[in-house]
Amino acid sequence: MQQTVTPATGPLDGSVRLPGDKSISHRYAMLAAAAPGISKIANYSSGADCHSTLRCIEALGASVTIEGRDVTIEGRGLDWSAPAADLDAGNSGSTIRMLSGFLAGQPFTSRLVGDESLSQRPMQRIMTPLAQMGATLVARDGKFPPIEITGGTLRPIEYAMPVASAQVKSCVLFAGLFADGVTTVREPAPTRDHTEVALREFGATLERGPGFVSIHGRPRLQPRELAVPGDLSSAAFFLVAAAIVPGSSVILHGVGLNPTRATLIDFLVSMGVEVRILDIAMRNGEPVGDLLVRGSQLKGGVIEGKWAAALIDEIPVLSVLGACSEQGLLVKDAAELRIKETDRIETTAANLCLLGAQVETFPDGFRIAGQQQLHAAEVDSHGDHRIAMACAVAALRASGPVSIRNAEAASVSFPEFWDTLAQVRG
Ligand code: S3P
Repeated sequence: MQQTVTPATGPLDGSVRLPGDKSISHRYAMLAAAAPGISKIANYSSGADCHSTLRCIEALGASVTIEGRDVTIEGRGLDWSAPAADLDAGNSGSTIRMLSGFLAGQPFTSRLVGDESLSQRPMQRIMTPLAQMGATLVARDGKFPPIEITGGTLRPIEYAMPVASAQVKSCVLFAGLFADGVTTVREPAPTRDHTEVALREFGATLERGPGFVSIHGRPRLQPRELAVPGDLSSAAFFLVAAAIVPGSSVILHGVGLNPTRATLIDFLVSMGVEVRILDIAMRNGEPVGDLLVRGSQLKGGVIEGKWAAALIDEIPVLSVLGACSEQGLLVKDAAELRIKETDRIETTAANLCLLGAQVETFPDGFRIAGQQQLHAAEVDSHGDHRIAMACAVAALRASGPVSIRNAEAASVSFPEFWDTLAQVRG
């Protein structure tokens, strides 16, 4: 699908309802499948990725009923049934990496496959710890999907992750559910902690300290009724869109504000964005609030070190903020961007260049100059949801229409994106 976005002719305004958080939806679905009994999940992500997870857990014996944004899952406990066919994770790195933790504990062989993009993404990062725990994993060329996992009895390990990755941390913690004893994961920089929060909600026992988390194996998980907060990473597109269009005022309702994700708000404030948290409440261990964002006078910024890990999913759209800012944006220490759904250093830079911006790339990041006048162009998402939506936001500040090829990719995390954008434009 080719989507044309015309420049904004006036302020954005109104209120936005976001899809359920993608990270939290995956975790709730997998844990519900591992808790014996009926769990109900409200505001489950409408994105294709989270529906890949639902199809996988169904193939592993959970019963899944979907009614709009509400999902009911009857879980089997920790013992799942062998799937009759390959498990298809689609485009979803979270599905393949986190589900592998559960499959490592099952006494059967399963095979996880994915689409063309997922089939190029590295899996050694989960294969190494799962093999140490006692599972047998075979991947294409030793590192890419499809992955075949033969699980069984697992031993607890202490694992120091070489890269900061919440998917790897989660995979090892989920495998730790099946080990007799205490499994510990150490992380080199803080990553999102939705798995730790969700595991406690479902009744697992965890210990946490600076840079580590430990899980006690073989718990009896409890089914739960939960509500997923709005996705802050999806909100990022509207936070930036409102910030770069003068006079805008947009409210985002019920957004997840977990501190390990809300670094985004701190960063936006540091760039000069006028964003306010209107209220905040705790729901299932996760903070949730409404945000108000206005058209803003933007300074420049730097994303490096721990900030790079914390903002990794938002960097494509933050590059648009950088181009519209006074001094631009420098991104360093973000080599992980190269192994996302696309090489996001290249796809972000290539599209911004097509739009007329000055961008310099490095192995671990890029620099985008400020005060860029963007112009009409034909750009390409390359099948990456966050690149499609970042291009649409950039188009608001271009001097002519921007045509986005492969725009349908947005539905991987935010199928309602195009309608929501039309709505805030009036
Ligand atoms: C995610 C973790 C991050 C992030 C991804 C979702 C998660 O990936 O980029 O979109 O839900 O745990 P990594 O763990 O590879 O950093």
